Amino acid sequence: MVVVKNICCVGAGYVGGPTCAVIAYKCHHIKVTIVDLNQARIDAWNSDKLPIYEPGLEEVVFDRRGKNLFFTTDVDAAIQEADLIFVSVNTPTKKAGLGAGMAADLAYIEGATRRIAEVATSSKIVVEKSTVPCRTAESMRTILEANSTGEIHFDILSNPEFLAEGTAIKDLFNPDRVLIGALQTPEGIAAQTALAEVYTNWVPEDRVITTNLWSSELSKLAANAMLAQRISSINALSAICEATGADVDEVAYACGRDTRLGSKFLKASVGFGGSCFQKDILNLVYLSTQLNLPEVAEYWKQVYTLNEYQKKRFVKKIISTLFNTITNKRIAVLGFAFKKDTGDTRESAAITLIKDFIQEQAHVAIYDPKVEHEQIYMDLTEPTVADSRKQVEKSISICSSAYEACKDADAVVIVTEWDEFKSDALDYQKIYDNMHKPAFLFDGRLLLDAAELRKIGFKVHIIGKNELAGTA
Ligand code: NAI
Repeated sequence: MVVVKNICCVGAGYVGGPTCAVIAYKCHHIKVTIVDLNQARIDAWNSDKLPIYEPGLEEVVFDRRGKNLFFTTDVDAAIQEADLIFVSVNTPTKKAGLGAGMAADLAYIEGATRRIAEVATSSKIVVEKSTVPCRTAESMRTILEANSTGEIHFDILSNPEFLAEGTAIKDLFNPDRVLIGALQTPEGIAAQTALAEVYTNWVPEDRVITTNLWSSELSKLAANAMLAQRISSINALSAICEATGADVDEVAYACGRDTRLGSKFLKASVGFGGSCFQKDILNLVYLSTQLNLPEVAEYWKQVYTLNEYQKKRFVKKIISTLFNTITNKRIAVLGFAFKKDTGDTRESAAITLIKDFIQEQAHVAIYDPKVEHEQIYMDLTEPTVADSRKQVEKSISICSSAYEACKDADAVVIVTEWDEFKSDALDYQKIYDNMHKPAFLFDGRLLLDAAELRKIGFKVHIIGKNELAGTA
């Protein structure tokens, strides 16, 4: 029986960092080494300012770092020492070549797998933690077996991560389930049991689900596609609400009370963002197309298409409300992260919106409590367009408070649902007093109490709500 005593995690990102830090926190008898090629990222993990923001993460890392939790760029040494290796590298959408814009780029997975094969001097359990297309484990196995020497044996497991950014530590401490897929051979099942025993140090046994490899790989894509589908469904309904006077929060509540549906993920918004939903849906679309299932591909593609529509619809509403032009107007954007409680901006709706505002020659004043200023410049700059960075610098100001961003603004746009933007957390009277009139407020997150804000004098638009609601 294999007992895991030494874990290496390849990839110190949003998933590898928190996931393996929590394993170290919960399993003092296991040495956990998290490795990355990116020296700056590793330096940050070893410093007082961690490279990512997650509530509760500092407590976990600071408690175990230097004891049984280590961060290093010495990838080879950590691979050699480990009995179990998590591969937690990025799998972004391919930018060029076959499947560009749809398929997952598996170059990082392949790079990490080849490295393991080259440097391993003893048998390993290799665990796919990254989200990958169905049957990626087969490619990993082929690479490992073709490049390893001697008597070394590799078992491959799929253990996709279901944490949500912003609640990663909470999710990892108390997961709905842990999914472990393995080849149904005696060796595969032994490896599956060894990993399950790591998790059952703190996760109840009945929450550890064991399946075959391919079910596990597909379940991660399926779960993300279904979650995104719920958001696109409620967002599609939000457009009908605005046109009819139905209220999307009321519709979501009424639908969510049906126990077959449940209430979660039925919040309308300006559109979903984050590194996963769009990428994983497109990945599923590509997989369906490759499998010659065009109707299935079309079905999932629509979840993505609706999300793009929702962002554009919001921008159009803002422009038309501001008398069909925002040229030279100051638009305050509150929030840049893709959701609250994270500094992650990947695929954030804010990026699409602000790029459109800049195209319309507005001046955009941005405030986000956690996103680094340089990240905002990088996200808005088009790398292929000459002078794009200069243009962005001229078109935006990054502010240190919501009040500063909203000063002299023609419109305020809420893009991220940070608690500090709620009606009772910000002084909206003060914001109103310092804005140009009429003072417009667009809530892309259904965060605010429209009636209260209208009493102050704001012209308010909230996604999925119609100003005339309640009238006959
Ligand atoms: P990330 O980009 O934050 O981190 C990946 C890290 O891997 C980077 O720091 C990169 O330098 C490193 N890396 C790449 N190749 C390497 C190699 N050969 N050796 C050492 N380090 C290497 O990505 P993130 O967000 O952590 O995602 C990782 C995977 O987890 C992706 O497949 C993603 O789809 C999946 N996932 C992400 C979730 C999220 O909320 N971000 C949630 C669940 C799954």
